[in-house]
Order: sequence, then C-alpha cells, then structure tokens
Amino acid sequence: MDKKATVIGAGHVGATAAQRLAEKELCDVVLIDIIEGVPQGKALDLTEAAPIEKHDAHLTGANAYDASANSDIVIITAGIPRKPGMSRDDLISTNAGIVKTVTQQIAALSPDSILIIISNPLDAMCHVAHEVSGFPKERVIGMAGVLDSARFRAFISMELNVSVENTHAFVLGGHGDTMVPLPRYSTVAGIPITELMSADRIDALVERTANGGAEIVKLLKTGSAYYAPSSAAVEMAESILKDKKKILPCAAYLEGEYGINDLFIGVPVKLGQDGIEDVIEIDLTEAEDADLKKSAAAVAELKAFLSTLE
Ligand SMILES: NC(=O)c1ccc[n+]([C@@H]2O[C@H](COP(=O)([O-])OP(=O)(O)OC[C@H]3O[C@@H](n4cnc5c(N)ncnc54)[C@H](O)[C@@H]3O)[C@@H](O)[C@H]2O)c1
Repeated sequence: MDKKATVIGAGHVGATAAQRLAEKELCDVVLIDIIEGVPQGKALDLTEAAPIEKHDAHLTGANAYDASANSDIVIITAGIPRKPGMSRDDLISTNAGIVKTVTQQIAALSPDSILIIISNPLDAMCHVAHEVSGFPKERVIGMAGVLDSARFRAFISMELNVSVENTHAFVLGGHGDTMVPLPRYSTVAGIPITELMSADRIDALVERTANGGAEIVKLLKTGSAYYAPSSAAVEMAESILKDKKKILPCAAYLEGEYGINDLFIGVPVKLGQDGIEDVIEIDLTEAEDADLKKSAAAVAELKAFLSTLE
C-alpha cells in the first residue's frame, strides 16, 4: 500500500480498526501496544486472514514506535475503557497520562501525520494530543460524532423499518451526556425525521443515542463498544487517505465558529488529505444552540481539570 496508518492500542477498538483498515485495503497498518506480544500476535493473526479476506495490506505489531515512523495517519485508542457505572469523564486522569506519552512519541516520528483521537473522555483527550504534538488544529481530529450519528441512524432505521443506507443523521457537541442530536438535520431518503415520526418517538431515539455507549457497557460488563467505534474511525481515515472530502461530524478545535473559542467539540467538518479542510457552520435554532453551548461548557470544565493534572 502507498499509505501507512499506525493504530496505538491493540485492544478492542484498536485491533478492530486495524482489521477494517486492512480489509478495505486503505493502507499498511502498524499496531502498537505496551503489552508485549499482543500487537505482534494480533498483527500476525490478521496477516494470516489476508489470503482469505483477499487483501495485500501489510500488518506489523510492535511495542516500540520505530515501525510507526512516517505514518500518514495515527489512530490513538490507547487508554482504559469504561466499566459499568463509570462515566467517560472518570477516565480522565489515567488516559491523559497515556495519551500524552503516546503523542510525544508519535509527534517525534511522524511529524506530518494526521491524528485521529479515540481515547476517552474524547474531547479532553483531543486537547492533550493537540497541545503535546504541537500539530496544527487541522491535523488533530476527535472521533465521536460519526459514532453517535451512526447509532442514531441505526435506531431510526429500526424504528421506521427502512434501510440504514437511506438514513442520515447529525449529532454534534461533546462526546458525553450533553451530546446534541439534531433531528431537523436527520433524514430518511432526504425527508427530515420530524416529518416521519412523532415528537415522543424522536425524543426516545435521541435519548437512546445519548446513552448509546452506556447501553453497550451495561450489556458487556467488562468493556465498552468497539465494532461501531472502529467503523467510525475508519470512515474518517478513509475520507482522509482517499481525499474524499466527506462532511462528517468530528471533534474539531474551534476558534470562533459557532461562537465557541479554544475548545474541541463535535461539529460538521470536511475531511480530506489535509485533515480538517473546513468547519461547516449550520444554522441552529435557539434551543439547539443552547444545547451546544451547554455541551461546550461541560468540555471546558474537563479542559480546566486537565490543567490541574500537570
Ligand atoms: N471516542 C469514542 O467514541 C470511543 C468509543 C469506544 C471507545 N473509546 C475509548 O477508546 C479507548 C480504548 O477502548 P478499548 O475498548 O479498545 O479498550 P481496551 O482496553 O480493549 O484497549 C486499550 C489498549 O490500550 C493499551 N494501552 C494502554 N496504555 C498504553 C500506552 N501507554 N501505549 C500503548 N498502548 C497502551 C492497553 O494495553 C490496551 O490493549 C478507551 O479509552 C475507550 O473509552 C472511545
């Protein structure tokens, strides 16, 4: 492959992302983890599946970062996931330290790479990676909105018994309880769902979306979701690696857009070979804008907490 991605963290999300990247033949993949043998074993196992899955992507596993040098994209999933009863924010102290160490090594060896952050609490971890890497804001992107929107789309498709391919949804804001699903901009075959469902049913789907991560954590008991999260990360990576210029909801560093300053928060962006090529500002109602500001305030609180950790 002529492109290279490194995935840090060979756990549930990282290994599944590596699998999806390779099976779509988007790039060669380097899988890195601190646990000896795990990234090597998973990379070898995926390599042995390649003849059956019919792809020629090379997969390498390592504990050191040398193999990751000159990556085009780096997906950071390193960190601890939630357990039942925990919020994403409970992970902040541990994961901030992990994301800091990881980012330092990546920035040194892949100074031109684009970072896709997955580790939680997502928006706060984007701040850590942005600060530590010193990368321009266009090259530090958080994955949350694509996942939250996919969950909303799945629920819309189940509710209306229509193909998921006909659904489109937008979830903005921080990746937490204050996320902002936008029913007005969520459609089935171009028709807003506000014309297809009662307000009560929409409210129920919105609530299920906002609690989508917790619903899976409760069922799994020992970890959090990873199939849909890895799909979401790879959709972002694909848009960048193929310069597709898809408009996707991602956590981006805002400097005045939506009236928000110096904060990572989920908004629609255009993703291409340069990373975030545009932040799309859509019209929000007063209520939607208030919800976005409330979500931004929650992220700002986490950002402030980060500065107390140093
Ligand atoms: N943004 C999102 O929407 C979203 C969705 C799902 C999961 N997540 C988050 O992604 C993270 C990973 O989730 P998971 O389910 O894959 O967890 P996991 O426990 O299965 O995998 C995490 C991996 O990170 C590794 N790791 C820890 N410290 C490291 C370091 N310093 N360097 C390299 N690797 C290191 C661990 O050894 C482990 O293999 C969690 O923080 C989780 O909350 C975010």
